[in-house]
Formats: sequence, C-alpha cells, structure tokens
Amino acid sequence: MTTMIHNSDERARTKPNRAAQALKAAAIFWFSTAVVGQALFVVYIVGFYGAAAVARQPERWNDVLVGGYVAGGLIGNLILAAHLLMAAIITVGGPLQLIPQLRSRTLPLHRWMGRAYIVTAILISLAGLYMVWTRGTAGGDAMRVGISINGVLILIAAVMAWRHAAARRIDRHRRWAMATFLLVSGVWFFRVGLLAWIMINQGPVGVGDDFDGPFVRFWAYGCYLVPLAVLMLYLRAQDRRSRLGKALTAALLTVVTLVMAVGVVGAAMGMWLPHLVG
Ligand code: HEM
Repeated sequence: MTTMIHNSDERARTKPNRAAQALKAAAIFWFSTAVVGQALFVVYIVGFYGAAAVARQPERWNDVLVGGYVAGGLIGNLILAAHLLMAAIITVGGPLQLIPQLRSRTLPLHRWMGRAYIVTAILISLAGLYMVWTRGTAGGDAMRVGISINGVLILIAAVMAWRHAAARRIDRHRRWAMATFLLVSGVWFFRVGLLAWIMINQGPVGVGDDFDGPFVRFWAYGCYLVPLAVLMLYLRAQDRRSRLGKALTAALLTVVTLVMAVGVVGAAMGMWLPHLVG
C-alpha cells in the first residue's frame, strides 16, 4: 500500500506539466519569430545604410530619414553613423545573449558579449537622444517623447542588468537582461507593430497625414510598454504554480507572436526589402 501511494506520488511529481511545456513552447515560438524578424532588420540596416556609406553617398540615408544626414554637420553625422552601426551590432548581439545553450556552454563569452552589449545599449541610446533633440524624427511630440523615454529606460535597465550580474544575483540579472532586450527592441517593435496594425486594418487607420494620428501616439509608448507588460506576465506565470496561469500566458504569447509575424512580413515587404532592391 505504502509503495502504491509512494508510486502515485512519484508519478504526480514526474508527470509532465503540460501547461509548463506549452508556456516554454510559446516562448520558443516567440523568440524564434523575433530572431527571424530582427535578422531581416539587420539585413536592411547593412544593405541600405551600410551600402550607401561604403559608396560614400550618406545623403541617400535621407531617402528614409527625416532628420538624417546634414551636409557639413560633421558631429551630428558621425553620431548618426555610429547610431546606425551600433543598431546593426546590437540587433545581432541581443538574441545571441539570450540563447540558453550558448550561455551555459561558453560563460566567459557570454560575460564579454554581455559587457559589449550593455555598453552598446548605453551609447546607442545616448546617440539616439542627441539625434531626437537636435535633428528630430518622424511624427510629432508623442514620437519624440515616447522614444526618449524608451532611451532613458534602456539606460536604467542596462545598468541594472550589469550590476546584478556583477553581484552574481543571477535571477535578477536575468529579469533585467530580458527587459533590456525588449527595450532595445522597442524601435523594432515600433516598425513591426505599425505594419501589423496597417495590414490587419488593411490601411493606415489612425496613422495620420503627419504621422501623428491616434495609433502612432499610442504606439510611440506602447512599442516598449506592451512588450514589458507581456514579459511581466510571462515571468509571473513561470514563477507561479498555477497551471491555468501558465496556459493562459502561453495562449497570449502565441497570439502576440502571430500578430508579430504578420508585422514582420509587412515591415520586410513594405519598409525594408524595397530599399535593398533598385
Ligand atoms: C536601442 C536600439 C535602437 C536601434 C536598434 C535603433 C535603430 C535605428 C535605425 C535602424 C534607424 C534608421 C531608421 C530606419 O531606417 O528605420 C534609427 C534612426 C533613428 N534613431 Fe534609433 N535605434 C535604437 C534606439 C534609439 C533610441 C533609444 C533613440 C532615441 C532616444 C533613437 C533615435 C533615433 C533617431 C532620432 C533616428 C533618426 C530618425 C529620422 O531621422 O527619421 N534610436 N535608429
């Protein structure tokens, strides 16, 4: 009898928790989709901005940029060029830091890449803040204030991730590092979310003639606050034992990923690839 009870207890303990598995699968689905989408963004940054720089035609950057290259504006142009170079580097480096297999097998590499990632996150944000407030950007005040808050949050999250890693508080480091990655991806989420919205609505509803419509004003902040909110739900579902919580969060992540996939296709076809051909 005791053996039977013991065996059934054992089975309950070792029985695969389907909800936990679903949550893990949804997270992998989200991450893989983000990696593909960010790789396409890097191809665009290198293929458009990099190619124009190599051809010594930085004025071509202004085919896209609003407050971009200014003839004779040396300091601002160098900061813009550094921002674009760091954009490519950080977008490649971020996902590499989050792959568990790479992290556990090559911890010294993770540490060095982590330091480089955090320094790059700080520098790209400082460069971005300078650019917003000296040369401007598309849209109105919401865009300027929204991305500036994004930049300040990157600075805070990057420093917190570093401090917790240095003090070997690994659980807290992990949370802040994930938040840093999402905040750094804010500009990518902005483009992907905008294109998902336009594709789902089959037109630029709420975008506005001056790129200052209600959707743009909402998404200028939402592009990083919504991902952060989803991250908090995900971490909470991971920590708690509730199977329902895990299952609901897995469902939410799956829906978010499908919308993100629509946005990646839209951004690649509508914003990025056209600048690589022709
Ligand atoms: C941290 C990750 C970031 C990445 C990967 C990134 C990437 C980029 C890219 C690729 C562009 C060219 C625009 C395009 O072709 O779509 C750009 C432009 C720009 N970025 Fe960033 N950026 C980041 C953060 C920031 C932050 C935090 C700010 C502001 C605080 C900022 C401000 C700007 C500005 C002002 C422009 C020029 C926009 C224009 O002239 O139209 N960026 N960035």
